[in-house]
Amino acid sequence: MSFVKNLAWRYATKKFDPKKPVAEQDRLAVMEAIRMAPTSFGYQPFHVFEVESKDLREELKKNAWNQPQFTDAPLLFIIAVRSDLVQRIDEFLDIVSDKDPEKRKALKPYEDMMKGPASRANTEQATAWAAKQAYIALGFGLAAAAEMSLDACPMEGFDAKAFEKILGLPENLHVQAALAVGYRAADDEAAKRPKVRFPKSELFSKK
Ligand SMILES: Cc1cc2nc3c(=O)[nH]c(=O)nc-3n(C[C@H](O)[C@H](O)[C@H](O)COP(=O)(O)O)c2cc1C
Repeated sequence: MSFVKNLAWRYATKKFDPKKPVAEQDRLAVMEAIRMAPTSFGYQPFHVFEVESKDLREELKKNAWNQPQFTDAPLLFIIAVRSDLVQRIDEFLDIVSDKDPEKRKALKPYEDMMKGPASRANTEQATAWAAKQAYIALGFGLAAAAEMSLDACPMEGFDAKAFEKILGLPENLHVQAALAVGYRAADDEAAKRPKVRFPKSELFSKK
């Protein structure tokens, strides 16, 4: 199946088969797609938690409208965005420069360009900006899953503050979205629903 055909095949899976695990290479491929997603300036202002613990998943579900994907999907990723952007830029520049002081010095104009807006942003603004980057990564993860004929569900229907408490996140991390991955249950009603999209004529136009 071609990539675009796979996008028509995929749907936001509501009911996963909890007994059908995801192959390790597929798990790694979804993670790699998230990792390789582009971000503004490239400094990936987010962290992804893979939640395996049954107890944690039960707690998350209680704070997510009891959506069964939180407990039944073989894989559950929680994407948290960083609000400490200046710190993240330093971490990024450490990688770019291999921690070589000379190389790092040469990156100063780039550093200033990145840190200017980052240092002026308050927590809310930083989080909103980081969220834009995180959603691209979420999209890449979803697309990669579809490419491998894996079912998935993107989710933001939850109490993010409660999630942060349950996961014990530090102040610089803010839960933004979740991605459940696995295989649809044979009786998932959502699989039967028609795909609803606006037609191209409504969504695109030329100028
Ligand atoms: C950012 C985002 C958050 C979403 N949150 C939820 C959610 O919490 N629970 C859920 O069942 N579906 C959720 N969805 C799935 C959408 O409802 C679904 O993608 C949309 O209706 C289009 O349907 P399709 O993906 O099945 O083609 C979310 C989708 C996105 C992109």
